[in-house]
Amino acid sequence: MSSLIQSPAWLALQQHQSLMAKLSMRDLFHQDSQRFDKFSLTFNDILLDYAKQRINRETVDLLLTLAHQQKLGDWISRLFAGEKINATEHRAALHVALRSDHAVLLDGVDVMPDIKRVLKQMERFAIAIQSGARRGYSNKLFTDVVNIGIGGSDLGPAMVADALRPYQLNGLTPHFVSNIDGAQISDTLRHLDPATTLFIVASKTFTTQETLTNAHSARQWFLSNDGSEQAIAQHFVAVSTNRPAVQAFGIDPDNMFEFWDWVGGRYSLWSAIGLPIALTIGMDNFYSLLQGAQGMDRHFATAPLDKNLPVMLGLLGIWNINFFGATSHAVLPYDQSMQRFPAYLQQLDMESNGKRTTRDGEVVDYATGAIVWGEPGTNGQHAFYQLLHQGTQTIPADFLAPCQSHHLIGDHHRLLLANFFAQTEALMMGKNAQEVSSELESQGLSAAAIEQLLPHKIFPGNRPTTSILFKKLDPQTLGALIALYEHKVFVQSVIWNINPFDQWGVELGKQLAGKILMEWEHHQTGAHDSSTSGLIRYFKTHQ
Ligand code: F6P
Repeated sequence: MSSLIQSPAWLALQQHQSLMAKLSMRDLFHQDSQRFDKFSLTFNDILLDYAKQRINRETVDLLLTLAHQQKLGDWISRLFAGEKINATEHRAALHVALRSDHAVLLDGVDVMPDIKRVLKQMERFAIAIQSGARRGYSNKLFTDVVNIGIGGSDLGPAMVADALRPYQLNGLTPHFVSNIDGAQISDTLRHLDPATTLFIVASKTFTTQETLTNAHSARQWFLSNDGSEQAIAQHFVAVSTNRPAVQAFGIDPDNMFEFWDWVGGRYSLWSAIGLPIALTIGMDNFYSLLQGAQGMDRHFATAPLDKNLPVMLGLLGIWNINFFGATSHAVLPYDQSMQRFPAYLQQLDMESNGKRTTRDGEVVDYATGAIVWGEPGTNGQHAFYQLLHQGTQTIPADFLAPCQSHHLIGDHHRLLLANFFAQTEALMMGKNAQEVSSELESQGLSAAAIEQLLPHKIFPGNRPTTSILFKKLDPQTLGALIALYEHKVFVQSVIWNINPFDQWGVELGKQLAGKILMEWEHHQTGAHDSSTSGLIRYFKTHQ
């Protein structure tokens, strides 16, 4: 057994869970009218309400003891100090430097001058494109920007560009191409004019098959639709850590925006990977996004653990996953513009904490990262909420919403928020047999009909949710929300003693795809299991 699950803090939580499992939140709310005040925190315009979790004061104290036992405070300091805490890749995880306002040392050297240099380069470029000083080969203004990237080189910028659409400047429409499925790039290019289209090839490594394949197809499309070799420099820029590969692709290094190996892909939207964001909402708004994250960083680094939003969010996840056995976690934004937020969080959380070995290489004997999923409310309500309310699994959920909408149309926002509040209340309260029975009686149903319907209409309730309300989804608040989740993921990794900054699990599939392609190139059959061989045979005969 690992030392974690034998540790005093863990055992105390286990014992406490057996008591908490017998209590209902409905009763806890009845017994304590101060529950919301006791179990909610604010940071700037963000409210985190975790009163609808299966907790009491002792739960929080025990979780905080676990955090102290796992030396969370030290780990937070090590993250901000630029220590090489990504041990398997011998790297620091210094995404916080990308939004810092003070010197950040890496191996004794301040990284801020480099960060500021690239931010200035982005600013000059964004202004040149937006003002029309930089144009396409036929002197027309750029109207479209296509970001070609995948994973962290796609999900962050795509999510932010969508979420901050109300801040979009006139004139430049962003598009995101990630999938190697030719459908995506074909559909995107079909509507575009090469003379007014700017391409950003975004890849940390510049070796990613999907991105390079899409970039080559975009180049081919550009050349075969009037664009010339000389015009490539005007229409293609790159964001990468790999200068030689960018050059080998045919992009002039003058048109390259650099970032660094200490920025993890899924933590990179704050770097030049955010270029499509800066181009579409302007550099001032991009700086506001960084400032929002910086504020959350400061809060994470300095607030006491019990008043610390990312810490509490992380510990509640631990409570649900490790002590109540939750295997999945729903993220439910009541804001259509945050529709890509769950997908973004999937990479952030699952690529970071989907690990089965500790930092020391031991196989864990406790659960780590949960499955993250979700859809915007109220669409989810009419799709999968049935399972949240009456299914056999308990799925903890985060509900997020702005108090003010950007879209002042009719009564939509009040109706949306009424649904948010009603859902979290229903999930917590449920509806017991007595309530169902009197409801059916008042509807005039016979005793026999009530008896028949009763079990189907009971809601067990006691389903945990955390509510995150914020004033308005502006760049600063979005920056803070993203940083909140980044740090939440880090907190959980510290408790689990895993490295959240590597991603070896994505390698095997890539290697095997390379092997299969090589076999096809050499007309070989290749040794595979019978299922894989059967699938390949079927594909070849039907392609
Ligand atoms: O395959 C996973 C991954 O390595 C992610 O971690 C990363 O965000 C993505 O691929 C894209 O990588 P790159 O930016 O190097 O193209």
